[in-house]
Amino acid sequence: MRLILLGAPGAGKGTQATFLCQKYGIPQISTGDMLRAAVKAGTPLGLAARKVMDSGALVSDDIIIGLVQERIAQADCARGFLFDGFPRTIPQAEAMKTAGVKIDYVLEIDVPFAAIVERMSGRRSHPASGRTYHVKFNPPRMQGVDDVTGEPLIQRDDDREETVLKRLQVYSDQTRPLVDYYANWAKADPQNAPKVRKIDGLGTVEEITARALAALGGN
Ligand code: AP5
Ligand code: ZN
Repeated sequence: MRLILLGAPGAGKGTQATFLCQKYGIPQISTGDMLRAAVKAGTPLGLAARKVMDSGALVSDDIIIGLVQERIAQADCARGFLFDGFPRTIPQAEAMKTAGVKIDYVLEIDVPFAAIVERMSGRRSHPASGRTYHVKFNPPRMQGVDDVTGEPLIQRDDDREETVLKRLQVYSDQTRPLVDYYANWAKADPQNAPKVRKIDGLGTVEEITARALAALGGN
């Protein structure tokens, strides 16, 4: 299975990725998680990316495309992968098309912007694994602590309200157009284009996982 999860910041891409990757036995490729790891490690990429991410803008296409190309060349991607937060611009999608990277499904998780700010303000993350919780909607078993490792959870730097609003604007301007991009491609070339599916992202985490699996053909 080769899958793209598309959706606004806070739509639940990372949350659903955990379940879908387990179900299909594929790695989660989150460009956001990769960038945050680089920031934490203090690499040149991390130093350059930090300011951009904290402002809510996008890191340059060249950097992201290079990161992803390197990642999907690794052996664990041979059986498939899930892209979480990539592609995020038309040039990023075009780069995958040009490179002949075949994608089975583009799954859009639709959540109204009004619900998103509350989701982001309560989000807590376990950076090492990418596991994501919410203080109210999806709490860890023990407050402030990851369920699996027992390590502390953190709050992301870009979850301040003004940055969230900027990220939503960037999503509308630069990422949402990908929905039409993939729909048009599917119309023009159904053999090679990914199948495009959209699910309602409001409800419990379990309900949305069930919708996602149904949208992906239940297999
Ligand atoms: P990235 O890490 O990709 O952030 P994002 O797309 O803004 O998405 P989020 O991770 O904020 O949300 P999510 O959809 O994963 O939601 P989650 O499951 O956590 O990118 C960060 C930055 O990196 C970007 O701004 C950019 O600068 C840079 N970047 C990354 N990729 C890039 C690229 N390709 N090109 C250029 N720049 C790039 O859920 C959110 C919260 O809601 C959690 O607390 C969760 O517990 C809760 N929740 C989940 N499901 C539900 C539910 N059903 N009901 C209630 N609460 C729920
Ligand atoms: Zn995420």
